Amino acid sequence: MLERPQGAIVSNLTDFYLISTNWLHLILGVLMDFVPYDDRDGWIWMDGHFVPWREAKVHILTHGLHYGSCVFEGERAYNGKIFESRKHTQRLMRSAEILGMTPRFSVDEIEDAKKEAMAKNGFEDCYVRPLMWRGSEMMGVSAQQNTIRAAVAVWHWGNYFADKMSGIRLANAKWRRPDPLTAPHEAKAAGLYMICTDSKHVAEAQGYNDAMMLDYRGHVAEATGANIFFVQDGAIHTPTPDCFLNGITRQTVMGIAREKGYEVVERTIMPDEIGNFTECFITGSAAEVTPVKEIAGTMYQPGRICEDLVTSYEALVRA
Ligand SMILES: Cc1ncc(COP(=O)(O)O)c(C=O)c1O
Repeated sequence: MLERPQGAIVSNLTDFYLISTNWLHLILGVLMDFVPYDDRDGWIWMDGHFVPWREAKVHILTHGLHYGSCVFEGERAYNGKIFESRKHTQRLMRSAEILGMTPRFSVDEIEDAKKEAMAKNGFEDCYVRPLMWRGSEMMGVSAQQNTIRAAVAVWHWGNYFADKMSGIRLANAKWRRPDPLTAPHEAKAAGLYMICTDSKHVAEAQGYNDAMMLDYRGHVAEATGANIFFVQDGAIHTPTPDCFLNGITRQTVMGIAREKGYEVVERTIMPDEIGNFTECFITGSAAEVTPVKEIAGTMYQPGRICEDLVTSYEALVRA
């Protein structure tokens, strides 16, 4: 169990602030989970203007809805500042480019929209979801004339996993990450999440929190919405991102770990190795650094390295 020693918890005002804001977000997150996303108060930025939250709609005949022609980002703001905001916007643009979409808004315009959406909704700590999708002018597979629509929504989102700090349980995923010749793995594209949602649903039905996906070769790849790391003999091992998203959090955490003197090894990891590791965790903008306590019957004790990186990441995003 990852628990801070009680006596050290409120060692100074910063710690107190961190812990109290975390609790506040947890409670808000839990309460808001019961409110449908299309029936909330607030404002959503759509195609250059703010519209009342409940009116932020698309027509049923929208290409993005039928064919998965949509790209998006998932980001978190801490203390009023979006962590690695520009990197996320640049990845959004790159995802659009990979899918042949020409965005109507620049990086700077999306950056402004994200900041304005936070201000207009009065959020300091929130999740940020920019997206772009093909509109409704053509409804065949080809959509050359379709407007590239854009939106930015922000909302309170607590921990991605309710029992995050005690460690989550991963099942073996139903689906595998596809070959890079089969799907554009560098794009954060909506269509690629079809196998993630289904894998996560199957895992949840079995009582797990999430699933560990292998890739098309049978190598360990990632979780359904986060990258995966292991610890062996004090070194941190993570799969090479050659057919899945090289997460912004993944890169941040590797940087933190190296700065702290840990050896970080990117390599092919085979499923029969997972019993050799002592710690495991996943990383993502939504999941942040989340300890893993089980992968389909193989148990881990979230320990020193896991705790160090959870704490260091938390400090960095709020710095
Ligand atoms: C499938 C998948 N892999 C990895 C990640 C981690 O990416 P990031 O750290 O950039 O949020 C995410 C989250 O966006 C994801 O959905």
